Amino acid sequence: MVCLGNICRSPLADGLLRHKVQRDGIKATVDSAGTANYHVGGPPDERMTETAMSNGIDLSSLRARQFEVSDYDHFDLIYVMDKSNYQNVTRLARDENDIQKVKLILDELGHPNTIQEVPDPYYGGQAGFNHVFDLLDRATDVIIEKLKT
Ligand code: 4NP
Repeated sequence: MVCLGNICRSPLADGLLRHKVQRDGIKATVDSAGTANYHVGGPPDERMTETAMSNGIDLSSLRARQFEVSDYDHFDLIYVMDKSNYQNVTRLARDENDIQKVKLILDELGHPNTIQEVPDPYYGGQAGFNHVFDLLDRATDVIIEKLKT
């Protein structure tokens, strides 16, 4: 799960998918990273942590790190939150196989007219965090079903 800062959107996507993988007994390694290094080593944004916690998802053990080329070797799927993340991640791809791993996470929702990008809630209010929770909860529901097949 990749976003810009690795303190709002991708830690939530990470926490949601980890929770669902564990709940359903699926063998998968879930992690997250940011394309920027601003917050490396820091915990998720408090507003995201609280939004997640009030929905039963614990983000307290997560710490921000920066996406690196070796992530292409360690993961089969790389979900990005927006098109800017897509550009930043695929810029580091070494070949077509790497590029094929990168997906916009909201494409998993699959309906025409669905928003394609998870909005960055960092500069907004609580409603933005709730909206991000709703989007990523739905997207990770689809991902978990795909991992079962
Ligand atoms: P995220 O949100 O990419 O969802 O973690 C952001 C967090 C911090 C900043 C930007 C986006 N920032 O500019 O510090």
